[in-house]
Amino acid sequence: MRIRLPKKDEDALVAIALRARERAYAPYSRFLVGAALRCGDGSVIEGCNVENASYGLCVCAERNAVGSAVAAGRRDFDAIVIATSSEPPSPPCGMCRQVLAEHAADLAIVLVNTKGDRVRTTLKKLFPGTFTSAQLRSGQRAALRTASAGRR
Ligand code: THU
Repeated sequence: MRIRLPKKDEDALVAIALRARERAYAPYSRFLVGAALRCGDGSVIEGCNVENASYGLCVCAERNAVGSAVAAGRRDFDAIVIATSSEPPSPPCGMCRQVLAEHAADLAIVLVNTKGDRVRTTLKKLFPGTFTSAQLRSGQRAALRTASAGRR
């Protein structure tokens, strides 16, 4: 369920995301991204993008935050702040939207930049038509039915 983020909570998350952005390892793109992912228990997990000389191995800030959260035993998220230096502030890429949607059907999203601009949106708005585990299970059941019919 989506929450309304009180201003003081939003301000705190923005400060964390901007700080995480400064730790980004982005020597190739020079596009630094920070993320502050808030969990249901109020704790905040940080992420930044981590690039690699083998470009395809670069990992976005949002997915690094989700990975750290899951590794720390947290899987329920209600808000994320994503910090960049672009104008307007950048939204999460498609891959990160799918990864966020795995754990939060809807999520409050705040996009910020180093100038102080803020854009408030939601995962539902940015990413309708998510591929979900329900579709996966349905397809798997159909495959099992086909396989067992073939054995008859
Ligand atoms: N990047 C993110 O960290 N998050 C996004 O949602 C979009 C892109 C990173 C990946 C790469 O390190 C750099 O930004 C340029 O694409």
